[in-house]
Amino acid sequence: MTKFVIKGGKKLEGTLPIKGAKNSMLPIMAAAVLSSSREDIELQNIPAIVDMQVMTKILQSLGAKAKFAQNTLWINVRDLQNYTITEELMQEMRSSIFLMGPLLARFGKVRVTYPGGCSIGPRPIDLHLKGLEALGARIREENGYITASAPRLHGTEIHLDYPSVGATENLIMAAVLARGKTLIYNAAKEPEIVDLQNFLNALGADVRGAGTETLRIRGVESVGRCTYRIIPDRIVAGTYLMAAAITGGRLLLEQIIPEHLDAVVAKMKEAGVELVATADSLEVVSSDLRAVETLHTLPYPGFPTDLQAPMMALLTLARGESKVTESIFEARFRHVDELKRLRAQINVEGRTALIRGVEKLSGAEVQATDLRAGAALVLVGLAAEGQTVVHNIKHIDRGYERIEEDLGKIGAEIYRV
Ligand code: UD1
Repeated sequence: MTKFVIKGGKKLEGTLPIKGAKNSMLPIMAAAVLSSSREDIELQNIPAIVDMQVMTKILQSLGAKAKFAQNTLWINVRDLQNYTITEELMQEMRSSIFLMGPLLARFGKVRVTYPGGCSIGPRPIDLHLKGLEALGARIREENGYITASAPRLHGTEIHLDYPSVGATENLIMAAVLARGKTLIYNAAKEPEIVDLQNFLNALGADVRGAGTETLRIRGVESVGRCTYRIIPDRIVAGTYLMAAAITGGRLLLEQIIPEHLDAVVAKMKEAGVELVATADSLEVVSSDLRAVETLHTLPYPGFPTDLQAPMMALLTLARGESKVTESIFEARFRHVDELKRLRAQINVEGRTALIRGVEKLSGAEVQATDLRAGAALVLVGLAAEGQTVVHNIKHIDRGYERIEEDLGKIGAEIYRV
């Protein structure tokens, strides 16, 4: 089992470019299935992360061809012939569910099981299924498999009970080839939804409204191919900004879209981090960490749940007491017990964590329990005295392309062993 060994106490300094967003890449790779082109779809700025490999494996199991080189991915769905995703593949990654909408649209049928994924609490798919039903799909469950079928979906009005990112994306993809117009109300507004819309429109779809709470999709007969560059990963960017801040370092991030990080930057400033933005960069200039009164994770444009654990890592060293409330996922505090191993002082009451900042952290052996929890452990390891060993780093590799190389370039002592 590989692990990270981190020798803490080095100030991070330098410049890093940020690659494409995992959460854009996954639905966009799934959306490729909609194409009736015989030619390749070319996706640029694709991060070489484990989730990309898993999604590629799933697409290949359906009959697609895929090639990856130097952060470019070519997908060809000409010979797609399968609309069933096996339980084994569905269990590997929650995002496998993104294929439900596009496969249903393409084949009139799709067969999947409930998806697996990070252990951050129950993650139902009721909103996905309800929306697909509204679009005319007949949904049956037997022997653990969910089958959805509809010779052709039809446009309709969907009111989401909650602005689920995944459900919004799945329903947009299903509606692209539906007959007539679909309206999705209370849609998620994440930048990755805008990216999916832009990709689909580049294929020839007609999707409007992404980034607002109402989406309008006019169904088209078919969609073709395109070359598309996905947006930079705002969560990786946020993690690295926090890594610099927790070590008292100075870091310039390039090739990013700063406005995607507005809520994060605002909270980091509140926590005593000085940040400077340009049109496509953000720089951590200095930090004098102090507690934040409250932090609530929220759907975009609120503070992202995916940066809750890394931000908590930062707050373990901030003067005073911070209060962090997780509003999106039920069980997303599994990093707390691990942070405490480094002598962080945190108490959890329900969905709220109270963090009393300490003067220093001491290196320890810890377990990454999920992707972002793992990133938080790397951050405290960088700041702690002595050596920290992070086990179970397969979780971190799901979403960060060789994090130890990026951090190593800016002065961290972190080794994959
Ligand atoms: C996506 C992101 C993930 C991020 C999350 C919230 C991807 C690949 N993943 O996950 O990194 O943490 O958004 O920003 O983009 N829910 C239901 N029923 C459903 C669907 C969701 O109750 O049918 C609930 C979930 O249990 C959760 C909340 O809604 O409590 C948010 O989930 P959702 O927005 O769907 O997150 P994901 O798309 O799974």
